[in-house]
Amino acid sequence: MLELTLNRVDKRFSSKKAVNDISARLTNGVYGLLGANGAGKTTLMRMICGVLNPTSGTIQMNGQEIGRMGERYRDLLGYLPQDFGYYPDFSAQEFLWYVGSLKGLTINDSKRRAQELLHTVALQDVARKKIRTFSGGMKHRLGIAQAMLNDPSVLVLDEPTAGLDPKERVRFRNLIADLGRDKIVILSTHIVSDVEYIADQILVMKQGGLLMTGTVEQLTDTMKGCVWLCRIQAEMVEDWNNRYCVSNLRNEGDEVELRIVSTEKPISNAASVEPTLEDFYLYHFQDEPT
Ligand SMILES: Nc1ncnc2c1ncn2[C@@H]1O[C@H](COP(=O)(O)OP(=O)(O)O)[C@@H](O)[C@H]1O
Ligand SMILES: [Mg+2]
Repeated sequence: MLELTLNRVDKRFSSKKAVNDISARLTNGVYGLLGANGAGKTTLMRMICGVLNPTSGTIQMNGQEIGRMGERYRDLLGYLPQDFGYYPDFSAQEFLWYVGSLKGLTINDSKRRAQELLHTVALQDVARKKIRTFSGGMKHRLGIAQAMLNDPSVLVLDEPTAGLDPKERVRFRNLIADLGRDKIVILSTHIVSDVEYIADQILVMKQGGLLMTGTVEQLTDTMKGCVWLCRIQAEMVEDWNNRYCVSNLRNEGDEVELRIVSTEKPISNAASVEPTLEDFYLYHFQDEPT
């Protein structure tokens, strides 16, 4: 069993506190780091990958501080940065061979792993095609493949679904769900549906801190009794939008059915409904940028 522990991790950039007092214990499984833009997800991931040092606090892998482990930690780690650079003139396989050599794999190992991973991410048919001809989704899958070249125990993926179309999103989810069995997989996103089905645990970040950690069920349970369906006249919608956190809206003739997240019953005929993770997110992030 792997164990990654964050103990009161802080990161300050001059006066700006990007990450604020985060503690967590991560074992095998898929973790979703969910938060609005600017919440501190990338900064936290860069510290987990040893690219940035915490201002204070410690990060340990199986009880050892990662900064002291050096090469031994990097050998355990796979990382897809948010702003990952590709080499457009490389073919997919050349790119993986190149990354393999950077990671210290022998040429033979690089070639063998590259071929396996191209299958894993379903790019085997375009292995010899140049990256410049790839769609966003194909590039992302190649990015995931490069992060997995050294068969990492800790796989960190920063916004891996950004720019993917719905079909590519589903494919990506299926790929990740399989990996959590023998690894710690951490992926960040500001899109609820990306983590709703595949994350064993969700870490919700807000303004540098951890707002809440739990399974989807644990998080949605905190909204029980706070989600309502109500019907109102169409001309009232704007007013209600200003007064309440509206998570969905459906036109029904002259009337509109609103889904509202509110600790108080908004109108006498409102029906209480089961909360979703989307409701949870909207409620906590209604004033945040997306
Ligand atoms: N190198 C840096 N120097 C100064 N401020 C930074 C730096 N990196 C990030 N920040 C700030 O820290 C906050 C968190 O950023 P980031 O970790 O990129 O958030 P996220 O990935 O959740 O969008 C933001 O306000 C951002 O502007
Ligand atoms: Mg980011």
